[in-house]
Amino acid sequence: MDGNGRWAEQRGLPRVAGHKAGAEAVRRAMQSAADHGVEVLTLYAFSSENWRRSADEIADLTGLMRFYLERELKTLEKERIRLKLIGDYSAFGPDLVDRLERALERTAGNDRLTLVVALNYGSRSEIATAARTLAGQAMTGQIDPDEIDEHALAAYLETEGLPELDLLIRTSGEVRLSNFLLWQAAYAELLFLDLLWPDFDEAAFAGALEHYAARQRRFGGR
Ligand code: IPE
Ligand code: MG
Repeated sequence: MDGNGRWAEQRGLPRVAGHKAGAEAVRRAMQSAADHGVEVLTLYAFSSENWRRSADEIADLTGLMRFYLERELKTLEKERIRLKLIGDYSAFGPDLVDRLERALERTAGNDRLTLVVALNYGSRSEIATAARTLAGQAMTGQIDPDEIDEHALAAYLETEGLPELDLLIRTSGEVRLSNFLLWQAAYAELLFLDLLWPDFDEAAFAGALEHYAARQRRFGGR
């Protein structure tokens, strides 16, 4: 979800206005995903690199998270959306952690859409953690190093249990993955849109699905 800041700048507004508009776009994307029967929607809300932003902007972002979490919990329940988190969200402090965990508990039984929110997430660190876990198990003889294959490693990624990533969308014209789901994106269709995230609406969502449906995935076959 990229381009909130530029969206605000283009309107002569403070960056936080872009983040607010971005949060509305999250709400729409979540609803669109549920309406289209998408099984899992993963949103990159805060990367492990976003801590480099100013303290003010970080406070704005966490404030918005708190506000929307409270406001949208009812929607999650009504729409039978299960929340899942990836990334080390403990870094956001006890108040937000409590609220996040409450939302996890309250939505755990929902079965329509799984909404995965990446908070303080970084893909390289996720892969390194999985490698470290496996190395530890090899050291203690729980596993044979020769048994470490891609399935073994994937089992220790935070996305364990989720289906394959099919489509990855980045908005705002940047053409890079920025440490998001690097492993998981191995066979994903990548879609880079010039649209700024706050402008990502129902039509953009439907367009992305159409674009995906029109592509032929061969997984290395022919
Ligand atoms: C994405 O928009 C929002 C978050 C990272 C939370 P940006 O804030 O990166 O917007 P630009 O890139 O400055 O336009
Ligand atoms: Mg950006």
